Amino acid sequence: MSCIFVGQINNCVMEKTIKSIGVLTSGGDSSGMNAAIRAVVRTSIFNDLKVFGIRHGYHGLIYDMIKEMKSRDVAAIIQRGGTILKTARSTEFKTEEGMKKAYDNCVKHNIDALVIIGGDGSFKGATEFGNRYNIPMVGLPGTIDNDLFGTDATIGYDTALNTIVEAVDKIRDTASSHDRMFFVEVMGRDAGFLALRAGLACGAEAILIPEIDTDLTHFTSYLEDGNKRKKSSNIILVAEGEKEGGAFEVVKKLSPYLDGYDVRISILGHIQRGGSPSAYDRVIATKMGVEAVQSLIRGEYGVMIGIKNEEIVHVPIEKAIKLHKNVDLQEVDMINILNV
Ligand code: F6P
Repeated sequence: MSCIFVGQINNCVMEKTIKSIGVLTSGGDSSGMNAAIRAVVRTSIFNDLKVFGIRHGYHGLIYDMIKEMKSRDVAAIIQRGGTILKTARSTEFKTEEGMKKAYDNCVKHNIDALVIIGGDGSFKGATEFGNRYNIPMVGLPGTIDNDLFGTDATIGYDTALNTIVEAVDKIRDTASSHDRMFFVEVMGRDAGFLALRAGLACGAEAILIPEIDTDLTHFTSYLEDGNKRKKSSNIILVAEGEKEGGAFEVVKKLSPYLDGYDVRISILGHIQRGGSPSAYDRVIATKMGVEAVQSLIRGEYGVMIGIKNEEIVHVPIEKAIKLHKNVDLQEVDMINILNV
């Protein structure tokens, strides 16, 4: 079975038969990408569509690292972190020449539509390419940062959050045993979702995130207060994108006020990106992957598949990129309330 769809790109109505889909992962890897690839491949095959795996993201589209995938190619990958298709951040794809080469390879393999699994940088590339060459695209939000507008969760965020919680719990043991103060820096690029939720889940004493202008002088009164209350351990979660420049900078600036505290800094780094995906990430990746293909079949494209209140939703890709996703300020207040 092949499908006729009528859709709109840049206000012009297109009619095209989809016979084959290309799938790629782009940007930083995140746990659950493999579950999404599996869902895209098998849903395509189920619908008698050819499906091509494109290795190394847009770089592989430019340099023809493209291979047809069969159902067995995605066997036993749902539990694996990373991405079997590999990923990259391609600067060449931003050029006219790069996009032209990528388009030529789509034509060469008769790829009619693309599923892009990645973050906002990957979607920017997709939008530009799709508009220029009229290639229908659907995006799946794959990033640990959870910073895409229109979806409650991105693929990999839950796993990364659980990894952080496990690590911070361990750090807390040492912090309590030695009466220490730890500044723990977590990823998230310029978003504070990981730091905020990890702060709630680990009972952090404070968080520093890019979305909130933390006044370090206010923070010093917290330190004095904490000393008075004889807190034996302190965990301060620092989002890597917060305005002071990360955990080392924060500690440097606070050093005059840290007398009497035994301070340590811990940067969690790339352990946050890998590992077997949580059940939640596997489930949303699977649902989103199935819906991506069904959406293309129906002729709905130029959208990111997201999840809102447990329902699968379609968000115009341009909106997902342009609009800012805000952290929940009530959650920030809760951290303060619970630190009495
Ligand atoms: O976007 C995912 C992310 O892990 C960010 O949280 C982080 O800032 C960045 O990627 C790190 O990128 P790289 O793996 O290139 O160092």
